[in-house]
Amino acid sequence: MHFADFDHAAFLRDTWQKRPLLIRNPWANWINPLEPDELAGLACEESGVESRLITRRSDGMVLESGPFPEARFAKAEAAPWTLLVQAVDHHVPEVAMLIAPFRFVPDWRIDDVMVSYAADGGGVGPHFDQYDVFLVQGLGRRRWRVGPRCGADTPLVLHADLRLIADFEATGDWVLEAGDILYVPPGFAHDGVAVGGDCMTYSIGFRAPSRADLVEGWAAHLADALPEDDRYTDADLVPQAHPGEITPAALERLHAMALSGLADGAAFARWFGAYTSLPKYADADWQPEAAVGQAVVQALIASSQPLARNPASRFAFIRQGEGALFLFVDGQSFDCTGDAARVAEQICASASLTLGPALSASPAVVTLVAALIDQGSLAFDEDER
Ligand code: SIN
Ligand code: CO
Repeated sequence: MHFADFDHAAFLRDTWQKRPLLIRNPWANWINPLEPDELAGLACEESGVESRLITRRSDGMVLESGPFPEARFAKAEAAPWTLLVQAVDHHVPEVAMLIAPFRFVPDWRIDDVMVSYAADGGGVGPHFDQYDVFLVQGLGRRRWRVGPRCGADTPLVLHADLRLIADFEATGDWVLEAGDILYVPPGFAHDGVAVGGDCMTYSIGFRAPSRADLVEGWAAHLADALPEDDRYTDADLVPQAHPGEITPAALERLHAMALSGLADGAAFARWFGAYTSLPKYADADWQPEAAVGQAVVQALIASSQPLARNPASRFAFIRQGEGALFLFVDGQSFDCTGDAARVAEQICASASLTLGPALSASPAVVTLVAALIDQGSLAFDEDER
């Protein structure tokens, strides 16, 4: 799946994080990648899939959480309803392939693909999200109304389960057909209602760490490594006028102590790479029962056996000067140089790859691939899952 006509540099410059945008079918050849039945099937799975059913009843919206019994979708519901399934890309390769055209935004900012199915009139109601989203109309039609940027002071409807905007007023109003895309930046009000039945929408969702997450995570990480005896000292203490006062001199020293560790940019980079590569759902587990031996990995590389990435795994890297990098996969970091660094970049570039047979002679490459297989992030295609 790719775009025939989409200027991503202009999009980033003029639109990304700035304003909503309707993009009329930019695909070379749009094909809806998932059948409604398959989506319903995922919502019935006992574990590892997060799903919601929202029904627009006369007395208000009702939210139910999955998994759902199969019979739930067999009988037609009279009131308009919509089913939403999180991270469908982790379970359906054809849905995962929808992410590739949006990789003009770096992988670490991309979250996952939520898929919704709605009967005529179904929708989740007017709301705003904390993250950017591309809403790709997959099947059928949906009317999207978009409103202004909201915030903590935007009045919400009193509802136990849903954060619905109280006085939604649209500034844009469009009916999307299959293949059309609506981009919505964080905070902008939006409300999508299915027009006719069989309405499927794919939400390519992004993520951005909050300042609170960063401060908390980074400080906790630093604190773990700090020894008990690294402590405030005041061998230069002089008498002070009031024993109750915490003096400016003491505060300056305390504040400097708190900040000095936090300021280490290189250590922050290493922490952040591992932190941002932590998987959201640990359930899609490819971890082998027994560690794969180095000899097996060597032989499979030598025979050009293709490797596949676990779609639930997160991969990123940070360069460390010429020919060296830190690779981050599912919260683990790997120092890579030479061939291993080149392989790490290859792994970060695509969901499946084949390493040239010559790389079987590189112990660093074999060790890296074996470690990634053992932690369930990578698998040779023949033995995956
Ligand atoms: C939907 O697919 O109906 C909801 C997507 C969203 O508004 O975030
Ligand atoms: Co939304």
